[in-house]
Amino acid sequence: MLDGALDVAIKAAKEAGEIQRERFDSALEIKKKGIVDLVTDVDIACEERIREILGAAFPDLPVLGEEEGELGGTSTEARWIVDPIDGTTNFAHSIPIFCSVIALEEAGEITAGVIYETMGDRLYTATKGGGAFMNGEPISVTSTGALVDSLLATGFPYDNRTNPRDIFGAFAATHKSCRGLRRLGSAAIDLAYVARGIFDGFWEIGLMPWDMAAGALLVAEAGGVVTRIDGGPFDHMRGDIVATNGAIHEELLKVLSGYL
Ligand code: IPD
Ligand code: CA
Ligand code: CA
Repeated sequence: MLDGALDVAIKAAKEAGEIQRERFDSALEIKKKGIVDLVTDVDIACEERIREILGAAFPDLPVLGEEEGELGGTSTEARWIVDPIDGTTNFAHSIPIFCSVIALEEAGEITAGVIYETMGDRLYTATKGGGAFMNGEPISVTSTGALVDSLLATGFPYDNRTNPRDIFGAFAATHKSCRGLRRLGSAAIDLAYVARGIFDGFWEIGLMPWDMAAGALLVAEAGGVVTRIDGGPFDHMRGDIVATNGAIHEELLKVLSGYL
C-alpha cells in the first residue's frame, strides 16, 4: 500500500464527518438525480473537502467520487474511490445513519478502506493483509453457524421500480429464513456492521464501487467471506455483493440463487 495513504484517507473521511455533523438536521439544499436518488449541498461540500485533502497529499492519484466522477491525477496504477455521504436519504431525512467512505485501489485491487460512521464517531479501517479495526481496535465477524439464527441486512437499488431482477422475492425468501432482516440505508455501514460482528451477513445488487469497495475489504480482513450473488469472486466494479461471517455464506447464497 502507498506510504501514508491510510492516514490521509482517515483525515479526509473525518473532516467530511465534521461537515456532516455540523449540518445534520438543518435546512439543506436537496436536488434529485433520479426519481428517488437525492444529492444535498452537503454531499457536494464533503466530496470537495475530501478531494482537497487527498489531492494535496497525493497529487498523482485520480479521485473517483460519486458526485463529480473521476478527476485529478494521471496515475493509471492507483486511484481513490470516494462516497462523500453513504446514506444520503437518511441524512436528508435527519436519520443519523450515514458515513463517509474512502477506498484506495492499486492495480485494480482495493488495498485500503476507511469508513467513518459520523454520528456514532466510529472509524473503521482496513488494509489488505493488515486486519480490520474500529477506532483502532481489531474487529471480527460473528461465529453464527446457521441462517435461522442470523441477523441480516440488505438494501435496494434506486431503480427498484424498473429493475427486472426479483429483489423483493429475494427479500421475502431471506426474511423467512433468518432471525431478522434490516435495511439501514447505508451499504457501507451495513458492511462495517458485518465486519464488527453485529450483522451476520449482508447482500445487495446494483451497488456502485464507492458503496462497497472499502466495506468489502473490511469484511474480508475481519475474517468474513465476500462474493458476488452467484458465488463468484467479488469485484467492486460489478455491482453485486454478498458479505457474511463465512459460516452462513453457502446457505444464504442458496436462498438468494432462487431469486437473483
Ligand atoms: C446508497 C446506500 C443504500 C443502498 C443504495 C446506495 P447513497 O448510497 O448505500 O444503502 O441501498 O443502493 O446507492 O446514495 O446514500 O450514497
Ligand atoms: Ca453510496
Ligand atoms: Ca453517496
